[in-house]
This record gives sequence, structure tokens and C-alpha cells, in this order.
Amino acid sequence: MNIGLRLFFVVILSYVCNAQGYPKVVCYYDGKGNTRQGQAKFDIAYLEPALQFCTHLIYGYAGIDPQTYKIKPLNDHLDVQQHNFQQITNLKKRFQGLRVLLSVGGDRDVIPDTDKALTYTNLLEVSDRRHTFISSAKDFIKNYGFDGIDLAWQMPRTKPKKIHSAIKKFFIGIKHVFAGESIVDEKAAEHREQFTTFVRDFRTALRRDALLLTLSVLPNVNSTVYYDVHQIAPLLDFVTLQNFDFYEPERNPYEADYTSPLYDVYGRKVDENGDFQVRYWLSKGCPGNKIIYGLQTFGRTWKLSSASGETGTPPVTIDSGAGEAGVYTQEPGLLSYNEVCAKLPTTAEIRAGYVGKLRKVNDPTPKKAAADESWQTIDVTKRFGTYAYKLPKDGQDGIWVSFQDPDTAAQIASYIRSRGLGGVAIVDLTLDDFKGLCTGNKYPILRASANMNL
Ligand SMILES: *[C@@H]1O[C@H](CO)[C@@H](O)[C@H](O)[C@H]1NC(C)=O
Repeated sequence: MNIGLRLFFVVILSYVCNAQGYPKVVCYYDGKGNTRQGQAKFDIAYLEPALQFCTHLIYGYAGIDPQTYKIKPLNDHLDVQQHNFQQITNLKKRFQGLRVLLSVGGDRDVIPDTDKALTYTNLLEVSDRRHTFISSAKDFIKNYGFDGIDLAWQMPRTKPKKIHSAIKKFFIGIKHVFAGESIVDEKAAEHREQFTTFVRDFRTALRRDALLLTLSVLPNVNSTVYYDVHQIAPLLDFVTLQNFDFYEPERNPYEADYTSPLYDVYGRKVDENGDFQVRYWLSKGCPGNKIIYGLQTFGRTWKLSSASGETGTPPVTIDSGAGEAGVYTQEPGLLSYNEVCAKLPTTAEIRAGYVGKLRKVNDPTPKKAAADESWQTIDVTKRFGTYAYKLPKDGQDGIWVSFQDPDTAAQIASYIRSRGLGGVAIVDLTLDDFKGLCTGNKYPILRASANMNL
């Protein structure tokens, strides 16, 4: 076949592929899973049933050495000494076409008593530091056989909504007249520009080796403030919008609400939902096929007290913060999907009056008046996600949990399809039901969201 004809077929083929979408399924794997105990302990053998669904595997997380500004492993023992980096990238031999990226940051890079964003913005501010990081990262990923790098950059977070009693509000109102709104990052505009330069230089450095460069927008990082979409989108292979933890017990200890709504929730900030984030990136010129919708496999929990009322309907008043740690995951305010499903009743248990199990509430109808136009065009249910709760009883704390389940994951998959987005990201595999303890099916959330007619 002559070159012209061959080129013609390549063009046609890539056109056909794009027309059909071929969505990406970006699977995050957090090395932290390997350090959990009991049923939550993750071993890379558990990855195998997941990888048939994944087009990309993102290994979380590497960090930054705050002295040298070079990339560094965050768990040297696991990643390097026990060869986990190498074993993970070796999986490419068995899963043809799988691309494996190393992610930096992801909120796992913590220096005690220091703001998580500090090293990340310090690095951006000095050209030498940026170059040191880029060249160290490039050597590092090549050394371990990664196909690219994901920037889960720890930018400063937006301020959470404060909940005050009426009287406190009055005094704070007065104070604000004098002090003005507190500013999260005084150098935000510079950091945004520096990040663009950083991404441009990074792309240049990776181009010759055809390595991938992607961005993970972490929860509660304000894209408007930090990401010059128009400039960086062409330089990135894709962007994962981590559309969850808009509400979470550490940021919002006095109010429980949907953590990862797809659409606007009445009474919340307009940008606290996945659809807003997607539309924002699209409106600034990011091609839809580069946008990956990130959903979470874990639940967020709050403790219910007598002050929380009887209905469980969000937003729920909380006076004692995060829910108790999960039996296996051992982190206050968090439950893996299988820890959530273990608390949900079987049909027989529902008939018997829940017997200590949680009441699950599926995608309820919104409270907002149906007269609002934008609500009429879209299915008015299936907008916010699922929650479950148990009221306090006999001196025992109650619990309120917002989570993703296979139904809501499938709804998000259909949203992704209908908007022509690049695909879905699962954050992360180690908190999905990787053993199939809920229903016998391994990775129910991954399965439900990956079912996009690949
Ligand atoms: C994000 O930044 C924009 C522009 O400064 C601002 O209008 C918006 O309220 C911010 N969002 C949050 C959640 O703080």
C-alpha cells in the first residue's frame, strides 16, 4: 500500500474511533491501600480483575522533596524497596494497551505542621525549581517504566462554608466590614501563570519520549483561580476533574450534605457540583474528549446527634464532626464502598425494621421549585447521589453517609456519554469493593461506570 493510501486509512480509522468516543477509563490506584489492614488491605494481585476495564492506571502518589524540589517516592519501602513501582508498570506486559502514569501530590504529600500546598506553590515560584523537578520526574518515570506523569497538584483550597449561630454571624458580619474577606492565596494570580509555564516546559521535556502529561484537579481547588484552561488544555493529554468531596467532614464539620452531586444542590455554592466543573472547563476551551469525570469509591460520614433532627434529609446539622472510622479502613469520616454496603440492610432486614442497619435514600427529588427552567430539561431525580443514615439511639451515635453506588456511577457514565466527554476516572480502586464482598461482583463501582459501550 502506498504511503498516501495508508495515511488515508489511518485518518479514516482515527475519525471513526473518535466518532464512537472510545471513552477512557482512568483507574487510580493509591499505594495507601497496601498499608491498610484486614479486609481493606490491598495487594497488587487484586488489581487484575480491575485492569480489564481500565485504559489508564494512575499510581498515587509520589511527592516533592521540599529541600531539593526533586520528585521522591512517598512510601520508599513499598514503592522502591518492595519494587511496587516496577511491579505495577510490569502489568503492561499482560494488559496490552494499558498506560500507567505516576501521580504527584494527590493530598498524600504531607509535611507535618505545614500547609499541604506550600511546597507545591514554592516550587512553581522559581524557574530553577521547576526545571529541577521536571528533569528529575522525567528520569524517575523512565527509570520505572511509567508512560507519563499526572499532576495532582496540591494547590491551595477554597475556604469551606462556615456555619455560625445567628448571634455569632452578627459579630462576624461586623468584623468583616473592617477586616474584609480572608484571602486564601495572595499570590494566586502569579501561581496560575507559573503553573502554565510549568506545564508548557513539562510538555516540551516529555515530547521527545512521547510520555503522557495529565492533570488531576483535586477537590476544592478552584479551577477559575489556578488553571488557565485555554493555555494548558492543549498541552495536556487529559484532565481529571475530581468531582467529589465538595462537602466533607473535615471541611464541613457542622453540616452534612451530598459530597459529590452531579448537579446544583439548592442552597450550595454554584460551583459545588460535577456538572458546573465540566461546563467550566468546556466553556474555557477544553475539548470535551480531554475531560475525564472523576468519581469516588468511598463514602464520607458524619456523626448524628439529637441536634441533627429526625429525617436525615440533607443538609443535616452536625455537632460532633466526622463519623467513626471504618472497621478496616480506620479513618474517621471515611468508609470504603464495601464498608458502606455492609451497613445497608437486606430486604429481610428492612422488613424486620432495619435492625441496626442504615436507611438508604436514592436520588431524591430536589427541594427546589420545579418552575426553574433548567430543571425541566433534565431528569429531575438522579441529580445528587445517594445517602444513608441511622439516627442516634439508646446513647449510641447515629451516622450520615454520602456515597457513590453502582446506580449513581452508571448515571454519571451516561452523563459522560451524553456530553461526549473523554471518559470516567475511578478514585480509587483500593476503596471499591475489590474483593466482591457486597454482592459477589468485584469492583461494582468500576464496573458500573466503565460500562460505556467500549
Ligand atoms: C472560585 O473563584 C471564582 C473567581 O475568583 C469565585 O467567583 C468563586 O466563588 C470561587 N469558588 C469557590 C468555591 O470559592
